[in-house]
Order: sequence, then structure tokens, then C-alpha cells
Amino acid sequence: MPTHIPVLRERCVELLGGNLRDGGVYVDATLGLAGHASAVLSAYPQAFLVGIDRDTQALSVARERLLAAGHEGRFHLVHATYDEIPRALAEAGFSAADGILMDLGLSSLQIDDDARGFAYRVDAPLDMRMDQESDTPTAADLLAELDESELAHIISEYGEERFARKIARRIVAQRETQPLTRSSQLVELLDRAIPAASKRSGGHPAKRTFQALRIAVNREFEILDRALNCALDSLEVGGRLVIESYHSLEDRRVKQAFASRTRSSAPAGLPLELEEHKPTFRTLTRGAEQADETEQETNPRSASVRLRAVERIRADRRRN
Ligand SMILES: C[S@@+](CC[C@H](N)C(=O)[O-])C[C@H]1O[C@@H](n2cnc3c(N)ncnc32)[C@H](O)[C@@H]1O
Repeated sequence: MPTHIPVLRERCVELLGGNLRDGGVYVDATLGLAGHASAVLSAYPQAFLVGIDRDTQALSVARERLLAAGHEGRFHLVHATYDEIPRALAEAGFSAADGILMDLGLSSLQIDDDARGFAYRVDAPLDMRMDQESDTPTAADLLAELDESELAHIISEYGEERFARKIARRIVAQRETQPLTRSSQLVELLDRAIPAASKRSGGHPAKRTFQALRIAVNREFEILDRALNCALDSLEVGGRLVIESYHSLEDRRVKQAFASRTRSSAPAGLPLELEEHKPTFRTLTRGAEQADETEQETNPRSASVRLRAVERIRADRRRN
């Protein structure tokens, strides 16, 4: 069976505590292989899990894992993207949650499956869709169809790649003679496009462009921005949202969404803070927490994690 070592597992379990200690509804919005979910169900024996993943393969492995861990009857799994938390809750018969976890990015199941084209170290078709049942464009489709400026924009914005324009120009030139359908073709192109000096200091030359394509193929930021609001709106008073991000572009979005709910919305200069202006959430973490050295050594994926968590402290009059 595939393995995935959950990052900051014990810390997530602890932060999700709150209402879940007395039962309640726990949404794992990125169920993956159910590593975190299984730990949360074991720690809070009266809690019920609504598990969401956009990857059906992950959902079936997660189901087996949860059953093998003895959690039968304590979960409902939904094939969805995480901006559909309200639908997933309703499908399981609930209207709100007491704890929500989002562990962003890919699972080892996806990275290690060569056929899915996420990894630049092995040759595979350029697919990169997390949901293989959807009929949305693959990475190869984007490389074939987007114009040069759109490609440059994606590679620069989502990959933070300095040589985005040059790379986009080369992609457009190459596809005139030969379509880019395999990861090895793209890796070769990137290797030629990125100057030797930058290759020495900037990590693998394909890393940033592969990240950019993956984000674009899966519309990751568009969905994340919607999901952050859905998740915050779905929490009961005392309910907690815990998010693990793995690059600065994700973490920035999480930080902003949390900031907008944890500070007062009173206009500057108002002598008294009215009830409707009071923050509806409080922060549970100081800045972003990181994994300690021991965990980073045993689980390299944890090296880039940034964990943030908030708790709802009052109902939102405008929304609830
Ligand atoms: C890092 S893994 C989660 C691993 C999990 N915490 C565990 O312990 O096994 C992230 C999972 O989120 C899923 N995912 C990514 N983006 C998603 C989205 N927008 N909606 C739903 N699931 C998503 C991926 O398919 C993947 O299975």
C-alpha cells in the first residue's frame, strides 16, 4: 500500500482539539491517504469525519486505511474540491463543522506514481491533473494551447521563475515542429533555456515550471481562495481551521484570509467598537509554525511546511 508521512501530525491533532474533544464534525478537506484523519479520529473517539479529496484514487486508499484502523461508521467520504465543503457537509447530514484541516499540495501517492506526470525526474505523459476523472485540460494541453504571454504569465506568477519569458518563447517555438507531450521533453527544453549560473544556485531547472503548470492545471489558487472563505464560514463557534502550506504563494493567501477575520473591521477613528465590527476569529499560532529539525530529517516534505490555525470566537452576523 502507498505511504505518505503526515506532516506535523501531532500538532495538527492538538490544534484541532477544541470542540472535537466532546465529539462534533471534523472535515479533512485534503484527505489524501488519511494519515492525519486517522490520527484525529483516534484522538477524539466521539468525532465524525467528513473526508474530501479531488483524487478518487486517494479516496479509495483512504477508505481502506480508515476501515483497517477500526473507524468503520465514523466517516463519510466525498469526491469534491475543497471549495465544496458546504456541499460535502450537507451530503453527510451536517450544516457546520467543529474542526477543518487543509494539508495543501500533493500526496506521495500522486508524486510517486510516475504515470501522472507530476515528477520531473521521471519521463511520463504531461498530465498533472489531481482529478483524473475530470475532463479539464492536462499540462500537455496547456503547453499546446496557451499563447506565449499566457504561458509566460503562468510560469512567472505560479513558478516565480525569472526566465519565464524565455521559457515561454521556447515552448511556442518547439511546439511548431513537435508537440510537448512528455515530461522529459519539457525538462530538456528547460535545461537548455536556463543559464548555467542559475542552474547552479536555483535548484533543479524544471522545479519552478513544473510547479507553475501543476498550479494552473488544477486551478489551485482560484479554488483555494474560494475554499478559505467556505471553510471559515462553515465553522461553529469554538471550531478551528488548521492549514498546512508548502510554498509562499499559498501561505500568503492563507495569512491574508485569516487576517481579514482576526482583526476588527471598525472604521478608523470610531470611538467605540460595535459588536458587528469585532473579529469573528482568533489566531492559535504565532506567525507560521514550522517542522523541527528532527522531523525535517526524517520527512523532507516537512522542510517547507508553514502551519497556521484560527478558532471562531463569535458567530458572524452578516453571514450566519
Ligand atoms: C498533502 S496531501 C494530504 C495528505 C493527508 N493529510 C495524509 O495525511 O495522508 C493533499 C491531498 O489533497 C488533495 N487535494 C489537493 N487539492 C485539492 C482540492 N482543491 N480539493 C480537494 N482535494 C485536493 C490531493 O489530491 C491530495 O490527496
